[in-house]
Amino acid sequence: MSAATAVADFPVSRIPVVNVATVPQRSPLRYPGGKTWLIPHIREWLRHAGARLLIEPFAGGGIATLTAIAENLVGEAVMLEIDRDVAAFWRGAFESGTTLAERVRQFEPTLESLNKLLNEPPRSLEEHAFRTLVLNRTRRGGILAPGASFSRQGENGRGILSRWYPDTLAERLLALQNCNDRITFLEGDGVKLLPSLLRGWGRQAAVFLDPPYTGDGGKRAGSRLYAHSEVDHARLFALLAKYRPCFLMTYDASPQIIDLVRKHDFDAVLLSMKNTHHNQMPELVITSSPLFA
Ligand SMILES: C[S@@+](CC[C@H](N)C(=O)[O-])C[C@H]1O[C@@H](n2cnc3c(N)ncnc32)[C@H](O)[C@@H]1O
Repeated sequence: MSAATAVADFPVSRIPVVNVATVPQRSPLRYPGGKTWLIPHIREWLRHAGARLLIEPFAGGGIATLTAIAENLVGEAVMLEIDRDVAAFWRGAFESGTTLAERVRQFEPTLESLNKLLNEPPRSLEEHAFRTLVLNRTRRGGILAPGASFSRQGENGRGILSRWYPDTLAERLLALQNCNDRITFLEGDGVKLLPSLLRGWGRQAAVFLDPPYTGDGGKRAGSRLYAHSEVDHARLFALLAKYRPCFLMTYDASPQIIDLVRKHDFDAVLLSMKNTHHNQMPELVITSSPLFA
């Protein structure tokens, strides 16, 4: 069976992909591959799961965790991230968000100030967090992977300033301080750490997984967007099959992923969404039990 036929075999989700402008944006990070458009699915899944804890092993911009905690869809959450710059951001944001917010309000992004930030190694966790946030908001597409360039045009030709909204960013950082006692951030490999978390929490945990794309089917987005884009997808699927938590996982509908969904008899629906070049990219929302067909 060709990959195209296999994709067409999945039902389309009954929940439409939303315009991201209609969903509260809670993350200070602007994340390539961010899943804000998936929030209605995440909300319905968590209401159905009734879990006490949310585990997000590939946190990135942390959109699922921040939404679930702010909207009281779970009591607590654990976020994991392997990228040391992104991890420094989250640790710094939870530990000293108020000071970071003040720095954001006072910073003026110019090519000179950005290059200084880029070339001087951070001397503290707070500096490291600030550096990650500034680079994330001023680089083209929010890309932090090595080799990314600063925005030249951006919104309204404002270049590096096109995504630098100091007041909004400061407010999002301050809002995190209201929920940091309910979120645990762990720096490390989400695939390696997942089994011990699942052993501890069992059926009381819900797991939201948004790994880097496989790069199959001609979309090598993962390696361009993230410094860490290699994930053992087969191992991840096998772990979910072994521990059987309530999970929602989102992936590119590549032949490898379609095979893994079938192999483990997971449920999946198709979503059609536009990528940054406005091409249609089929995305699979994979769940432990049927929910969106
Ligand atoms: C698709 S992004 C997540 C985007 C996020 N869902 C959002 O909406 O902002 C994938 C993230 O997983 C991280 N990552 C890759 N491999 C990982 C691993 N083994 N453990 C933890 N994080 C990993 C990447 O650095 C990247 O930040």
